[in-house]
This record gives sequence, C-alpha cells and structure tokens, in this order.
Amino acid sequence: MRSISKPLLKWFDQFGRHSLPWQAPHSGTTNPYHVWLSEIMLQQTQVATVIDYFNNFIQHFPTMEALANASEDAVLAQWAGLGYYARARNLHTTANIIMHQYQGNFPAEFTQVVALPGVGESTAGAILSISFNQNHAILDGNVKRVLARCHQVKGHYGQNETLKQLWRLARHHTPDERNADYTQAIMDLGATLCTRSKPNCEQCPIQSDCLAWQTNTQSEYPHPKPKKNKPTRTIALLIYQNTAGEIYLEKRPQKGIWGGLWSLVECENDEKKINQAIKKFDKNAQIKEKLATVKHSFTHYHLMISPIIVACTTTKGFQSIAKLKVGLPAPVKKIIAKI
Ligand code: ADE
Repeated sequence: MRSISKPLLKWFDQFGRHSLPWQAPHSGTTNPYHVWLSEIMLQQTQVATVIDYFNNFIQHFPTMEALANASEDAVLAQWAGLGYYARARNLHTTANIIMHQYQGNFPAEFTQVVALPGVGESTAGAILSISFNQNHAILDGNVKRVLARCHQVKGHYGQNETLKQLWRLARHHTPDERNADYTQAIMDLGATLCTRSKPNCEQCPIQSDCLAWQTNTQSEYPHPKPKKNKPTRTIALLIYQNTAGEIYLEKRPQKGIWGGLWSLVECENDEKKINQAIKKFDKNAQIKEKLATVKHSFTHYHLMISPIIVACTTTKGFQSIAKLKVGLPAPVKKIIAKI
C-alpha cells in the first residue's frame, strides 16, 4: 500500500493552510508555546473561531512564564466563550509545570508531553511534529475520517480494534521527511475537502487511493457509533373489569409516557404492590387472569407490559369496550383487543 504522503504534501504546498498565527513566520522557527496553545484550543473548536482567541490570548499571556504567573481567573476570562473550560484550567496548570519542572522550556520528549494535563497521544504527536518536526503520527477527528474513508475501515473508533487499526494506518502513512507539513496537511485535508458531509472528492489529491471513492461509499465512512442497547422497563397494566364486562380507564398525567391519553391503570410489576392497588381500588377486586407480556419500544427504552385482568364489583367510571371513544396508546389498544 503506497503512502498518501507524497500527493498530500504536493497538495498542501498549493492549497494547505500556511498563514495561521501559530505557524512559523516564513523564515523563522515555530514557537512550541504557540503550537501547544493552538492545539489545545483546536481540540474542540474550529480554526476560524480559534484564530481570534489565539491572538487575544497571546497578547495577554505572551510567554509561558506570563501564563504561569497569571491567576486562574484571568486565564479563564480570556478563554470565555470557547467552552470546555477544563482546557483553560489545564493550560494554566501546565504552564506552571513547565516553569517548575522544565525551567520554562517546552519538553521535547513524547512521554513528557503526553503526560501534561489535557494532552492525549494525538495532541502530543501534533505538538512535537509541528514544533520540532519530530516524527510522530497523529489521529484527531479529521484524520480518523480521512483514513476510515481511504481504507474503508470497519467499525467505530470507540471500539479498540478499530482505533488500533486507525493508528496503524496513521503511522503507515506518516513520512519521515516533512513530518510537520504532513501533520498539517492531513488535518487540512480533513477540514477542507474530506468533510463529514458532502466531501469534495473532485479536488482530493488522494482520490485514486481512496477505497470509499472507488466504491462511492464516502457517506458510509467513518462508521457511526453503534447504538447502545436500550434499557428495559417493566410495568403492569391493570384491566379492571366489572360483571357487565365493562373496563375502567383513567386519564394519564400530562407529563411522562402517553401524557394526557386515556389508559389502563399502571402499577409496578410487583405482586405485593399489585394486590395493594387492586384492593384500594375495589375491596372485592380479584385477579382473574394474567395475559401474555406485551413489548412496546420507545426511542430510549423498551417497555414490557404485563396486562392483568382484575374482576371488580363496582361500576363507576367503567365503560363498554365496544363503545370506547377515547384516544388510547397503541399497546393499550392492542391489549384491550385481546380481552
Ligand atoms: N485541528 C487540530 N489541530 C489543527 C491544526 N493544527 N490545524 C487545523 N486543524 C486542527
């Protein structure tokens, strides 16, 4: 499998982002303080939003020392509006770690960088790659999407095997030379062409490498997060039936399931609770028959309903099944049809 780095770097030279405020001025060197700060800001926020915040932050805290010496409140004040405030607290803590543990010099070892608060493997790789052109792979959200499409990676990155495969691919494609440019290039590709929806494949420099493009399956990758198994709730529905064969319905509270609809009386599916409820309803009430459980699925859970026919001697509030006029929830209708 050829590395996508060559066509990607060629594309980057022409179409990549080269004048972001944290990137080195053309002849100068990169400032790891700037790169670290930008990467933390970019963890949850898009480049277009980050630029102004970054410039403002650097004005207030021009150096690591200035940031370390500021109060946490002052740091949070400049962060206000960017969200995910743990990032700002971590920045302030990290600035102090770097002043005290590393004499103010940003560490250049992967194990040291990844140990800083708020820095994961991908962010550590990006900081070291962009700051010092060290050879590290990255795997942020953009890169995951590019690689999942290019290689039709099955599964979601939340699954261990899928994540491992994505990292293997990320390492495979990462070149020894121009590592910093490649890091920026693959993020730029993900952000500008290989977008989540409507990717611009026509302009893509790695179109011919991309399995999703070849099979027109771009919209299927990356695979979505698997749906969680819905929880199950169990209830009993009491079918009070009098000697004339009429049944009792009650209007449900406005809040909760079937809000405002007429329904059978709901009860916890517990023998003791059921006996208490039916005796309270009618002192002569007797359980007559337990019907088969009915399953009903809502968006967020499954409801298992145990319908119980309860023989009563009262008549108040009862109505004939044949003449039922009120709106009933679908499973209640189904249960009543079985009587
Ligand atoms: N997202 C995270 N880091 C980024 C960077 N350096 N450029 C663009 N998007 C990014």
